[in-house]
Amino acid sequence: MPVPTIEWKQNKVKIIDQSALPAKMRFIYCASAQSIWNIIKYMKIRGAPAIGIAAAFGVYLGVRNSTNKNFAKDLSKTINYLATSRPTAVNLFWALERMGKIARKHKGEPVTKTKKILLKEAKNLLNEDKAICRKMGKFGSALIKSKDNILTHCNAGGLATADYGTALGVIFAAHSQKKKIKVYADETRPVLQGARLTAWELMREGVDATLICDNTAASLMASGKIDKIIVGADRIAGNGDTANKIGTYNLAVLAHHHKVPFYVVAPTSTIDTKIKTGKAIPIEERNPDEVRKIKNIYVSPRNVKVFNPAFDVTPNRFITAIITEKGILRKPFLRSIRKACAN
Ligand code: MRU
Repeated sequence: MPVPTIEWKQNKVKIIDQSALPAKMRFIYCASAQSIWNIIKYMKIRGAPAIGIAAAFGVYLGVRNSTNKNFAKDLSKTINYLATSRPTAVNLFWALERMGKIARKHKGEPVTKTKKILLKEAKNLLNEDKAICRKMGKFGSALIKSKDNILTHCNAGGLATADYGTALGVIFAAHSQKKKIKVYADETRPVLQGARLTAWELMREGVDATLICDNTAASLMASGKIDKIIVGADRIAGNGDTANKIGTYNLAVLAHHHKVPFYVVAPTSTIDTKIKTGKAIPIEERNPDEVRKIKNIYVSPRNVKVFNPAFDVTPNRFITAIITEKGILRKPFLRSIRKACAN
């Protein structure tokens, strides 16, 4: 059963509150652009494709009560506002751009019609993501052998997308093909997406899952227990440099040292061809209390200085291949990415 990460229900956006998982399955209903901004900013919904979909619905919610006179102004205000929710995952900006573009295409037509078109476009984005995840799953699962031990980081599952996942989509596809795989999930400090969400999703699907502390990965690789690393992405530069959850770069360097293939799974909407290298990817810094506290309890001096970047950039040379809905992209990435993004 796919996870219903985000749905359009009763004229509202219904999402699973990911901050409550796995202890509680709680839902949040959003009826305004502001509430969409909040769920993205405070990570009630997270994961690059999922926040893009939420933002697309947010655009519709921001203009649904606009009058003819205010529509254009409200539209650009809503788009600019939602763009301030989180900076790294390019899917957010990609989705906002797509919504803006379709509205502009219908400029001059009655706004009631444009509003309907915007809602339809947000629903299209949601449904397309479901199909894209399954395509990536199909391509990526061809790389997985029975008895593979796979390591993943953060949550690139159904919860990070419309419903199936990028990195976990590949794992789910391999599992459904009856390949006997074992998956190690990094806990992923400080927000614990691996412990809270990935472990939950894997177990829900009956995948053999083992949770590890982030600092266990090196010794597992050294003892030959990892055959592949599969992660998602938040933004991929034109040369293949990849921003993903903080700690991904550590894994990539370790994988290189231990000769373990390192795969990134992401839709082409995660590729930002406007930027040439990972150096131009903006990295979000989050609230220091995420590091000072675990489950709302301080585990450090309350006023200790903290550095809390949410993402890091893995240089392209450490990436074996990038699995997209267009196929598996190999080096040189500059060329394979350009080709995949051309049509
Ligand atoms: O801060 P988050 O939880 O939004 O970060 C999510 C990740 O880094 C995921 O690995 C990435 O978005 C890929 S999701 C399919």
